[in-house]
Amino acid sequence: MGHGSAFGRLGSGDRRQVVGGFTRPIASVGSPGDAPDECKPPRGCPALALTFRQTVRVPSPIVASLLSALVANPGDVVLRLHLVEVLLTEGETADAVGHCAEVLRLDPGNVEALAALGRTSGAAAPGVPTHTTRAQGGYDWSAAEDQVRDIIAPTFVDGDPDDPDVEVVGLTLADVAGLASVKERLDLAFLTPMRNPEIGKLYGATMRGGLLLYGPPGCGKTFLARALAGELGARFYAVSLADVLDMWIGSSERNVKELFDVARRNAPCVLFLDEIDALGQKRSQLRNSPAMRGTVNQLLTELDSVGSVNDGVFTLAATNHPWDVDPALKRPGRLDRAVLVVPPDLPAREAILRSHLKHRPVAGIDVTRIAKKTDGWSGADLAGLCDRASQGALADSVRRGTARPIGQQDLEVAMKDLRPSLGPWYDTAKSVAQFANSSGEYDELVAHLRQRKVL
Ligand SMILES: Nc1ncnc2c1ncn2[C@@H]1O[C@H](COP(=O)(O)OP(=O)(O)OP(=O)(O)O)[C@@H](O)[C@H]1O
Ligand SMILES: [Mg+2]
Repeated sequence: MGHGSAFGRLGSGDRRQVVGGFTRPIASVGSPGDAPDECKPPRGCPALALTFRQTVRVPSPIVASLLSALVANPGDVVLRLHLVEVLLTEGETADAVGHCAEVLRLDPGNVEALAALGRTSGAAAPGVPTHTTRAQGGYDWSAAEDQVRDIIAPTFVDGDPDDPDVEVVGLTLADVAGLASVKERLDLAFLTPMRNPEIGKLYGATMRGGLLLYGPPGCGKTFLARALAGELGARFYAVSLADVLDMWIGSSERNVKELFDVARRNAPCVLFLDEIDALGQKRSQLRNSPAMRGTVNQLLTELDSVGSVNDGVFTLAATNHPWDVDPALKRPGRLDRAVLVVPPDLPAREAILRSHLKHRPVAGIDVTRIAKKTDGWSGADLAGLCDRASQGALADSVRRGTARPIGQQDLEVAMKDLRPSLGPWYDTAKSVAQFANSSGEYDELVAHLRQRKVL
């Protein structure tokens, strides 16, 4: 893929991501059946097309009056339960389930709501098949999860769910759980000087230089970069190996040069080089790959501090193998500052779990308890844990023919099946800290390993 197209694709507001998914009519007082435009099935996505309600139904007069009464008083549980009864008699099961879920959000454990849910055996949105469908190569968990996603609104035991009505567009650093010192470094290195160039000038700092995020896999390096992109919008350019590599001799080097040229023309901006161990591999390991050596050389030239053409181009790179990155890339003026991104601490794990559960049907989950039991798990491990728990709850719902929310037990069971993935990385990091830290380059890593009692 040529770099030009990559920049076209990545270089503007396109990188803002829809994080929150769809707005949910359930938590607002309207009928859960009134699907907003965003809920229309994506083109070319037949599996999902089953899930979405495409027609806006006109409620019966009694439902309409109850709904308007709820507009005035959305927290009225008794009124909402009455609406549930009416909806059930009218056969509007999916809407009834949605309102049951809202009652459970307001009053976790409400017996009447649970009983009503129980009566909605096989409850699903119209068009959702109640039989088990099998995708090629096994059960299609994500499609199945999507089918029950909107049935029950999120509920945490502490009654502090995120407002599901808010459609969050774009990540910001506030979405990254924990990692306060890393966020502070990103702020100082990129956000402050880009927002206040005068401050940089005042302190004589040239507006260039680079920061290397390193640390165990799945602990938020790419996520942090995406959050920075959310803060900076169009002034953030992400570059991957695929944007650079070209089969023709000399083309990869030219692509690297042109990427930097585009960045320079659009300065001030941040150029993000993810998986830099691939793009900027140690040249000593590339003896048999002259094309890749040329790419690393070109990267060095472009990052070089000779001349001041790079003013305003900030470079951010990420890797989980900093020891495989060519040492020349880490010299002053290039990626000269390194920041360790460590696995999430307790509050961060809590926040990560919450964010992965917030758009799923959950009830009675003690997030703190799970977070306490998952010390040493990466953010990606925690995401996997939530997926596994959802699959468990879903399988159970299919077995029983009744949709039920994901509960504490599902997470506990999933935790027994899974193991944190960071062991191998820590083994390598330990050897590096013991035998390859004569320059003090990995002092921060050594301190972290000691703190975790790995060293
Ligand atoms: N601090 C965090 N806050 C919120 N979510 C997180 C955090 N850390 C990790 N995650 C979750 O874990 C997922 C994986 O994180 P990410 O891809 O950023 O890891 P990484 O450090 O880039 O891993 P790798 O080194 O393998 O590329 C993210 O998409 C996010 O959902
Ligand atoms: Mg990554």
